[in-house]
Amino acid sequence: MEGETPKLDALRIETLTGPALLPHLKDLARLRIAVFREYPYLYEGDAAYEASYLARYCRDGGAVVLVRDGAAVVGAATCLPLAAENDVIREPFEDHGLDPARFFYFGESVLLPAYRGRGIGHRLFDAREAHAATWPGVAHACFCAVVRPGDDPRRPDGHRSLDGFWRRRGYVPYPDLVCHMAWREIGDAAACRHDLSFWIRPLSDTPLP
Ligand SMILES: CC(C)(COP(=O)(O)OP(=O)(O)OC[C@H]1O[C@@H](n2cnc3c(N)ncnc32)[C@H](O)[C@@H]1OP(=O)(O)O)[C@@H](O)C(=O)NCCC(=O)NCCS
Repeated sequence: MEGETPKLDALRIETLTGPALLPHLKDLARLRIAVFREYPYLYEGDAAYEASYLARYCRDGGAVVLVRDGAAVVGAATCLPLAAENDVIREPFEDHGLDPARFFYFGESVLLPAYRGRGIGHRLFDAREAHAATWPGVAHACFCAVVRPGDDPRRPDGHRSLDGFWRRRGYVPYPDLVCHMAWREIGDAAACRHDLSFWIRPLSDTPLP
């Protein structure tokens, strides 16, 4: 397998909810830790945090889109009604007078590097937008992304921002709508606080907030 281009038609991409997710949580944690080690997240994985973080997607209307190559989980994307999200993610909306019941939150999209650049990222969004659109009262999808300075010395040569991809999918940046999460970066002894700003897209003809 190593060195070969993965065959797209061998992949299984499906949206799982509730107890169907439980057998995959360990693989999902491993995948998140592997992908988020890269710039811009530089996350030094924490297995205990992963277990509690991922459990929330098994309830309250949450879903995970899994990409499997045979038995291996090679990609995933998570989503949950914003109203069911934790305070850190929900409160910036409330502080801006935005009703969380109108939003579906997309947690992350992660795909192993060998599988990138072939349209799977689009399918991860398609599947979550389809799931979110079934949720009563929800008018918008939203997600947040870490904010890094343009001249961050840790940015690898050739790194491409995903901003263009998100804009082309209809997401609009809200730089003042920000949440804060703490994680330990690779090489650091302690966790520090990171700013993540939100992007929003209407799921129907509802205007942007
Ligand atoms: C986000 C991610 C899942 C996208 O997966 P993907 O399968 O490569 O995406 P696609 O092939 O569907 O391409 C999506 C867009 O990204 C662009 N793209 C392709 N390779 C890229 C790269 N190396 N860097 C940035 N953008 C890239 C493509 O131009 C495409 O945009 P377009 O179709 O509007 O032209 C994947 O890049 C990833 O896992 N990244 C690391 C984790 C991350 O940062 N996730 C986002 C925050 S949670």
